[in-house]
Amino acid sequence: GRRQRFRRQLQSWYASHQRDLPWRRQHDPYVVWISEIMLQQTVVAAVIPYFKRFMTRFPDVQTLAAAEESEVLQHWEGLGYYSRARNIHKAAKLIAGELDGNFPRDLEALQKLPGIGRYTAGAICSFAYDTRAPIVEANTLRLYSRLIGLEEDPRSKSGQNQLWEFAELILPRKSPGEFNQALMDLGSLVCTPQNPDCETCPVSAGCEAFLRQRQHLIPVPKAR
Ligand code: ADE
Repeated sequence: GRRQRFRRQLQSWYASHQRDLPWRRQHDPYVVWISEIMLQQTVVAAVIPYFKRFMTRFPDVQTLAAAEESEVLQHWEGLGYYSRARNIHKAAKLIAGELDGNFPRDLEALQKLPGIGRYTAGAICSFAYDTRAPIVEANTLRLYSRLIGLEEDPRSKSGQNQLWEFAELILPRKSPGEFNQALMDLGSLVCTPQNPDCETCPVSAGCEAFLRQRQHLIPVPKAR
């Protein structure tokens, strides 16, 4: 069916276009977590050197939990949004202290930790544990909005509901983590904010926005 075709086309595109990013080389929930928090408000190229320095100094959750907050903040200097670093440190102490160093494995438990919302919990579950957890962040929000032809504000309650529902619907049972990575790369490399490259997009045939030539108007811009 249509969904199967979408999956096949995405997977074959990903096989030749996937990015080799340092946090993708293993499936450690700690590594997924730190990288996803850094990537929330910062672009990939800017994150890479910070990520490498952070992992060298704090290679695991125990090391991070034992560090002084000032040193954690120092490793964050230049990334901005310092509450992210404070939350990471608080969560590391909870995991190392109350959870015996074990990362929670399900979406609800993860979201109880400071700084971990629906997206980060989904990223940890799908990238680290390969469970069928949906993800909606900046790149996939834009991609899904166009695929479903979302004409409402994607940040509205109804828009969010439709996006999360779609994100769950398209996930395959086999290798959902890799599938989410592929969606994220397609969103960031092809389905760009300006001038999306619909000519080379592997899934344009099933894209509502492209079919109606509305890819430049979707997602609708933030009200300002
Ligand atoms: N942006 C947010 N998460 C990302 C990831 N895992 N890889 C690349 N870009 C991202």
